[in-house]
Amino acid sequence: MAEMIKLFVNGEEVEVESGKNLIDAVGAVGIEIPHFCYHPALGADGNCRMCLVGIEDGRPPLVPACKTPAAEGMKVQLDTDKIKKIQRDMMEFELINHPIDCPVCDQAGECTLQDYYMTYDGVSSRMNVEQVKKAKKLDFGGGVVHDQERCVLCGRCVRFCRQITKTGELGIVNRTDSARVDIFPGRPLNNRYALNVVDLCPVGAMTSADFRFKQRVWFLKKDEGICHGCSKGCNIFIDHNREKYKDDTIYRFRPRHNDQVNGYFICDEGRLSHKKENEGRLLESLKNGKPYNLTESYVLAQKAITNAENVLILVSPNLPLEQLVATQVFAQKIGASLSGYSDGYIVKGDGDDFLIQDDKAANRKGLELLGINTGGDFFWDSLEKAECFICIDNELPAVDTKRLIKALRETKVIALSSHHFNLVDQAFVAIPVASFSEYGGSIINCDGVLQSFQAAVVKNTPIADVTEVLRRLGGPLSSAPEVLAAIHRVEGPLAKVDFNRIPAEGLKL
Ligand code: SF4
Ligand code: SF4
Ligand code: FES
Repeated sequence: MAEMIKLFVNGEEVEVESGKNLIDAVGAVGIEIPHFCYHPALGADGNCRMCLVGIEDGRPPLVPACKTPAAEGMKVQLDTDKIKKIQRDMMEFELINHPIDCPVCDQAGECTLQDYYMTYDGVSSRMNVEQVKKAKKLDFGGGVVHDQERCVLCGRCVRFCRQITKTGELGIVNRTDSARVDIFPGRPLNNRYALNVVDLCPVGAMTSADFRFKQRVWFLKKDEGICHGCSKGCNIFIDHNREKYKDDTIYRFRPRHNDQVNGYFICDEGRLSHKKENEGRLLESLKNGKPYNLTESYVLAQKAITNAENVLILVSPNLPLEQLVATQVFAQKIGASLSGYSDGYIVKGDGDDFLIQDDKAANRKGLELLGINTGGDFFWDSLEKAECFICIDNELPAVDTKRLIKALRETKVIALSSHHFNLVDQAFVAIPVASFSEYGGSIINCDGVLQSFQAAVVKNTPIADVTEVLRRLGGPLSSAPEVLAAIHRVEGPLAKVDFNRIPAEGLKL
């Protein structure tokens, strides 16, 4: 628990955390100090001068709040005429050469410059000289498109590439009104976190080629979620929209701050994995690769399970604890073997020492804590004996295909899947299940942090999740309390977890 101190803002006493600068300290209690260049992940640069405040203790007349630590008893002035004039002057300075092309700017609606103009400026331009023209559409590489005219030269993007990725692709070149952000000749943005500069940019100068001109941000519904791209489990916003006559569609993933998991950033691969939630989805049931009535598919699947002496169920390491335990209880009921074999989800050497992990499974720790066997020998031995193989959303990446085809020669395959992949199209019966943006659940990341998430996307025709599909196939668990009770029966750290009170930053097990 951080130490609390008391200080005064415009004469009002407020209690804030010590050890923070004034922007963050009073920002946490809802008092805004405008700023462009400061970002908590990048530190104070002190270049924009938008955060100047007065302190009544004999200091210089104005100090930058980003570089001023909050102190006990400090008397901070934000509302004097002098401060207001400084803020207007800084805004006028930022806007002298700004193109004001908000109607075609992706940032409109979430732009600091727009918001500050309304709050701290609001006056008409006095400029009667021609504006300086700069490049409007520079391909910086890494999926980043730069507009030099919109840039306020805060330097956040430059500092990100120097301090965080340590790749240093960006710089500010030239001086005065010729100053601009640029890449070095022949050296485009070439790091796996490049698109974070789009979020860091307080204006619309850094845009994402993937999101550019796709949606106006005020139409987007911004729900909290967790990236399932690897075992880090970065916190994200799932920005989606249901346009008239269309289905609910995800347009982007953005990082959501969580100091215990991903800080302020996510990797580009995870960010762009939103496309997988929209594309290649299995939306109807299939029999031998052809569309087939859903109710009849359940009947066929049930018969195949009942008639088989040996059943093997393979689960995906991405499924949340709730769906894994429902599968475990289902397997016990029908006397099936249960495997979580997923060696192919591990891409050795792909991870780094920042966020990206070798393991592309979102909940491998969950498999381990529930005691689900992930061994290759157990999987292959069970598969060879199985007359019925139920594959639950495990895409078997990098599997030995020849061995798989041989093992499945005499086997009835039932695929419960959110997406199309080879096995789905070859299965006797395939039944669609919801993907992670469409259900809620809990997963445990590579550092043992248990995190919960809620459903974000609601499709026009919602698809049942794994727990519900198994219930329709005769599974014994039919309600959320029953599922949680089943998790609590598992010996180990999950037994005592109150799943209704998992903290926002996750619970370290
Ligand atoms: S491009 Fe954006 S983040 Fe980079 S210096 Fe310009 S305004 Fe700042
Ligand atoms: S590091 Fe992993 S969890 Fe984080 S955004 Fe990338 S793929 Fe997703
Ligand atoms: S935020 Fe303090 S000078 Fe820019």
